[in-house]
Amino acid sequence: MKKILIQLDTDLFPSTFDRVVAIDAGVDELFSYGGVTPENVESLVHGAIFTRKPSDLMHTAIFVGGSNVAAGEALLEVVRKTLFGPFKVSVIMDSNGSNTTASATVIAAARHLNLAETTAVVLGGTGPVGCRVAQLLLSQGATVRLASRSLDRSKTTCEMLAKTVDAAKLAPHESRSESGLAAACHLADLVVAAGAAGTCLITARQLDAISTLKLAIDLNAVAPAGIEGVEVQDKARSHLHYLTYGAIAVGGTKMRIHLAAIQSLFHANDRVLDTTSIFELGKSLA
Ligand SMILES: NC(=O)c1ccc[n+]([C@@H]2O[C@H](COP(=O)([O-])OP(=O)(O)OC[C@H]3O[C@@H](n4cnc5c(N)ncnc54)[C@H](OP(=O)(O)O)[C@@H]3O)[C@@H](O)[C@H]2O)c1
Repeated sequence: MKKILIQLDTDLFPSTFDRVVAIDAGVDELFSYGGVTPENVESLVHGAIFTRKPSDLMHTAIFVGGSNVAAGEALLEVVRKTLFGPFKVSVIMDSNGSNTTASATVIAAARHLNLAETTAVVLGGTGPVGCRVAQLLLSQGATVRLASRSLDRSKTTCEMLAKTVDAAKLAPHESRSESGLAAACHLADLVVAAGAAGTCLITARQLDAISTLKLAIDLNAVAPAGIEGVEVQDKARSHLHYLTYGAIAVGGTKMRIHLAAIQSLFHANDRVLDTTSIFELGKSLA
């Protein structure tokens, strides 16, 4: 039976990136819909679950995507509520690549650090990727300082994250000022730069000054680098007292996770791949 992936994208145009990965993952038919909202999604889900026999529904799956992660989460919630009894198909939510990228980042960090004993700074932590990096680090027992240009935005994100992880060791930080950034990075083991593409969040001088630093990961592939001095191809490159990873190295793992996640949707009809389960899947590939 043909594997059908139904792409529900909250943007007007369904993501080309997600479409290419779906095809490369071996999907036979890809139905792509743009402009999908919680209000108009029900009939699209009904079309997915009321066509094939329940025993054949493992050959149909749903991908929730789009550039707006909050919109993707709202859509996922309605999709999940619309599935019922045996009328279920597996679903993944990876708006803006946030879950697959965050998983790849934390998997890279775990290669070098005992995360339960790690103090991590996530720069650009209010964005879709940084927020999920922080969530996964917290879930592994790390102490996380979530940095933003705005302390208010950081606090808001921390409040949201505190609801997702029990006993989260989490603190909001302002990183726009030199002193704020220095305070966020004081005695840190790990720095992750998850700022917007093409924005430098920390200079080489500021990074080198973190005497306890063991690992620096930059997710931004667009010049200038998010961490000055980190090259996109860096993969555990040794520099002074710490190692560096760049966006391409993390992106390779992200792509493997993305492909495997799509393929795993067709192993059963009741999988829900969210931040946590995508991370678990990513770890199983290592
Ligand atoms: N390597 C990969 O495989 C891969 C995959 C996906 C994404 N990425 C990269 O991961 C990074 C994070 O993605 P995202 O979608 O979460 O990013 P985003 O939403 O565009 O930006 C993340 C945060 O950066 C801060 N920011 C925005 N403009 C800024 C500026 N001009 N100067 C300094 N900070 C600024 C904002 O935080 P505040 O306003 O709170 O400061 C924002 O919440 C991006 O660089 C993206 O390209 C990499």
